[in-house]
Amino acid sequence: AHQPLIAPSILSADFARLGEEIDAVAKAGDTRADWVHVDVMDAHFVPNLTLGLPVVRSLLKATDIPLDCHLMIEDPDRWAPGYAEAGAYNVTVHVEAANDPVMLAKNLRAAGAKAGLSIKPGTPLEDHLDTLRHYDTLLVMSVEPGFGGQSFIPEVLEKVRTARRLVDTGHLQVLVEIDGGINADTIEQAAEAGVDCFVAGSAVYGAQDPGQAVAALRAQAAA
Ligand code: DX5
Ligand code: ZN
Repeated sequence: AHQPLIAPSILSADFARLGEEIDAVAKAGDTRADWVHVDVMDAHFVPNLTLGLPVVRSLLKATDIPLDCHLMIEDPDRWAPGYAEAGAYNVTVHVEAANDPVMLAKNLRAAGAKAGLSIKPGTPLEDHLDTLRHYDTLLVMSVEPGFGGQSFIPEVLEKVRTARRLVDTGHLQVLVEIDGGINADTIEQAAEAGVDCFVAGSAVYGAQDPGQAVAALRAQAAA
């Protein structure tokens, strides 16, 4: 497998100091995050409210780490392309929320971003394979979206294994990402199932030293 990617989620960071919190995982070396994961919630698609495009624009100016924007919002067809136009590296929308996910992927790519498709724990992968062919990344949710610090749902690993098999046999071209409950106790089983990119919120920003937590998670995922 390739070098695993680690994407700390700033949902568990101090929102009054977001720039410094990103700097804590942005120093050169093995403590550097590959992407920074930004959870956008609208209090409609999920029962929580976080931040939106104005904050993402400021973060894009404050860091050179690629931003991985996870949009847990209704009507992503309308709102997601703005994140791509602003310069986000990867813009992920939920298949459960998108009206025309194939057109949306085209719009995200045309705006210069990678297009990501996320599926909630209860959403079958098989139902959306034709849509997924238009996307660059698949974000498998391993908790119900909405909050950090929840427990990992191991049953979703079956979807990771299926996606991995399709990618390895050349039937699908996506990067497989997992989000929710990833920590020192769960990352190895996720890596074994075939995840390429690991989102970790509380495991990174709940740690004494977020940079060291990134390095430790990456080493575990690669083992
Ligand atoms: C949850 C978010 C996650 C969250 C993960 O809806 O999508 O990105 O930050 O947090 P942890 O790693 O603490 O489960
Ligand atoms: Zn997320």
